[in-house]
Amino acid sequence: MPVLAIGGLGVVAVIGAVAAFIITAWIGQPVPVLGFEQTYDQPIDFPHTIHASLEQLDHVAADGSRMEGLGLDCTFCHRTVTTQANAGVPPVSFCATCHQVIGAADNEQINILRDAADIIGDDGTEPVDWKRVHRLPDHVRFVHEPHIRYLTANPSEVKNSTDGVKTGPSGVCSTCHGNVAAMEQVAQVEPLKMGQCVDCHRDNGAPTDCAACHY
Ligand code: HEC
Ligand code: HEC
Ligand code: HEC
Ligand code: HEC
Ligand code: HEC
Repeated sequence: MPVLAIGGLGVVAVIGAVAAFIITAWIGQPVPVLGFEQTYDQPIDFPHTIHASLEQLDHVAADGSRMEGLGLDCTFCHRTVTTQANAGVPPVSFCATCHQVIGAADNEQINILRDAADIIGDDGTEPVDWKRVHRLPDHVRFVHEPHIRYLTANPSEVKNSTDGVKTGPSGVCSTCHGNVAAMEQVAQVEPLKMGQCVDCHRDNGAPTDCAACHY
């Protein structure tokens, strides 16, 4: 009898968990453990910390000193974010402008980069196949440009904070991407579900008709 009771409880728990998932997915706040806060091992490590943070880091540089983040502007690499739909990720030849010389000769990850950029080795210049972290379904239209323009002009609407550059376009990315400058590997921290998009559109006088965001 007690065994049966426990089994019954288990079924209730499972049904409860499934119901909670469906309800939260519907309202637009998915349960993080079930999916969206995921990171990927990229073909080449790319620590945003070293490149985009302005803080003191644990990272020990080739010269033996603990380094501060370089504090590069997000738009230094994501060049089309202020003008186009896509933010854009730079080609490895762009990384090579620094890494031809910067980074120890025995740094494995930097050597994968040097090889991909054809500085060492003979693999040629294959484009790096970065794994996408944020991806909306195909039926949804998203454009960065109007968001960066609006948030830069309305700093009171900016959410979350960044360890990186806080002024200009780079200061607004945290609203939807969180504190990327503090991430060794990028994770999606905002749900970016329809509810979040529509709430912000309603609060800021942006279009809320279906055709604004759906093909
Ligand atoms: C403005 C110059 C600059 C650019 C551009 C740049 N980096 Fe770096 N990167 C650095 C510096 C400085 C370091 C720290 C070097 C050290 O550890 O001595 C670094 C470190 C690294 C490391 C080593 C991390 C570790 O834990 O040892 C990797 C991997 C890396 N960068 C990848 C990239 C990739 C990929 C790109 C292009 C998307 C890129 N970098 C673009 C300056 C740059
Ligand atoms: C030195 C170049 C460089 C700088 C500076 C840089 N990024 Fe990136 N970023 C990359 C590269 C390369 C990737 C692809 C690899 C990865 O996902 O880590 C990337 C990935 C991302 C992604 C994930 C894209 C996806 O697949 O969904 C976001 C979001 C992002 N960057 C935001 C930022 C923000 C915000 C800043 C400023 C705080 C910034 N980046 C600064 C090079 C850069
Ligand atoms: C209003 C929310 C919002 C803001 C603000 C925002 N992003 Fe995004 N970003 C998204 C969404 C949503 C996606 C996924 C788009 C898709 O799948 O079509 C994305 C995707 C990306 C990607 C990967 C795909 C691509 O477009 O190349 C990068 C890189 C990126 N963002 C960087 C940035 C940077 C850098 C900033 C600040 C200058 C920024 N984003 C500001 C919502 C935002
Ligand atoms: C921080 C608030 C905010 C969030 C979050 C947000 N948006 Fe927006 N969005 C705006 C504002 C404000 C505009 C209008 C900007 C302007 O042109 O002045 C806009 C404009 C747009 C446009 C262009 C509409 C047109 O035809 O002019 C699209 C498409 C869009 N958003 C899609 C999305 C999607 C999809 C999401 C969720 C992934 C999203 N937005 C999240 C504030 C937001
Ligand atoms: C401001 C942008 C925006 C507007 C306006 C908008 N949507 Fe969406 N919609 C999204 C985004 C982003 C997703 C994908 C993320 C998700 O599933 O919530 C989505 C997903 C959906 C889905 C698929 C849900 C699922 O579970 O796969 C349907 C159906 C949908 N929208 C219908 C509508 C209808 C009908 C309207 C008009 C009343 C509308 N949307 C207006 C942004 C928007």
